[in-house]
Amino acid sequence: MPSSSSPTVFLLLLHLFVRLSLFGMTILVEHPDSAVEVEEKKVSDQTGEENELVLDGGFVVPPTNAFGHTFRDYDVNSDRRDGVEEFYRINHINQSVDFVKRMREEYGKLDKVEMSIWECCELLNEVVDESDPDLDEPQIEHLLQTAEAIRKDYPDEGWLHLTALIHDLGKVLHLPAFGELPQWAVVGDTYPVGCAFDESTVHHKHFKKNPDYNNPAYNTKYGIYSEGCGLDNVLMSWGHDDYMYLVAKENKSTLPSAGLFIVRYHSFYALHRAGAYKHLMNEEDIENLKWLKIFNKYDLYSKSKVRIDVEKVKPYYLSLIEKVKTNCSCYWSWMEGNFYFPAKLRW
Ligand SMILES: [Fe+2]
Ligand SMILES: [Fe+2]
Repeated sequence: MPSSSSPTVFLLLLHLFVRLSLFGMTILVEHPDSAVEVEEKKVSDQTGEENELVLDGGFVVPPTNAFGHTFRDYDVNSDRRDGVEEFYRINHINQSVDFVKRMREEYGKLDKVEMSIWECCELLNEVVDESDPDLDEPQIEHLLQTAEAIRKDYPDEGWLHLTALIHDLGKVLHLPAFGELPQWAVVGDTYPVGCAFDESTVHHKHFKKNPDYNNPAYNTKYGIYSEGCGLDNVLMSWGHDDYMYLVAKENKSTLPSAGLFIVRYHSFYALHRAGAYKHLMNEEDIENLKWLKIFNKYDLYSKSKVRIDVEKVKPYYLSLIEKVKTNCSCYWSWMEGNFYFPAKLRW
């Protein structure tokens, strides 16, 4: 982000104040360890409808993406639009209960590679996400742009900075050493399988050719699930989110449950944007969703052409990976190596 005195920020603020009316709202978000108060300023447009947050802890949301279009606009007449729709057509046809179960079994073995978190960040540099209409930068830029923007506004939430750094590492699934999965099985919005596909999911019409679409066991509101069963018990369409969640869990990460929730559901826009599938959530999910909504603004809106000086910020993130959990900083837990992640993880 440019400094607050720069003309760019001034113009952004002017733009927002001219076009939108602001009103403030304060919500209390329970921290995994303590409690922090988050100031949310919501905006309403000329139709009076509530839109996304524009300011969060000082973070200024740009009005357009790096291509000059509204963020996540899948209908805009851009060069990438047709490619993105084709991506979702194939994704929606193929993400079935059977497919997800097979992927979870195969990748749950974690027998592909052994490497550290940072080595994975560097490895990810090769991947460009074709499903994303807002970004065509190498992924490490996106990881660090997201983490640095959050760090600026929430300087004490080390677990959240680290969550931001790792949230997209599962995109290595696209690389040859990980079976070179096609983009439709790695990136894009995610959604539950095993119950009816909610209409709020992007390009919903393409689910009609999914084998589960007409299966009475899978096409009702609850399908194979029950009221309040907890998202942990729900099969999500397979991609980098669920894979990284499996990697973190199986490697015994001590990230708080809100961090793991962000990793698993950050592409679940039908939930955190449209409010669908809430009938499957339990109490813990409801608490964690507040953090996911905060995270999502940075994940989405920090994408820009402003490059991060990787070498400059690297020492901070390395120290974070090996940092002892803040609520468990006693001598013995340090001796036992109670870090957020082991030095080497199985992937
Ligand atoms: Fe992601
Ligand atoms: Fe992301």
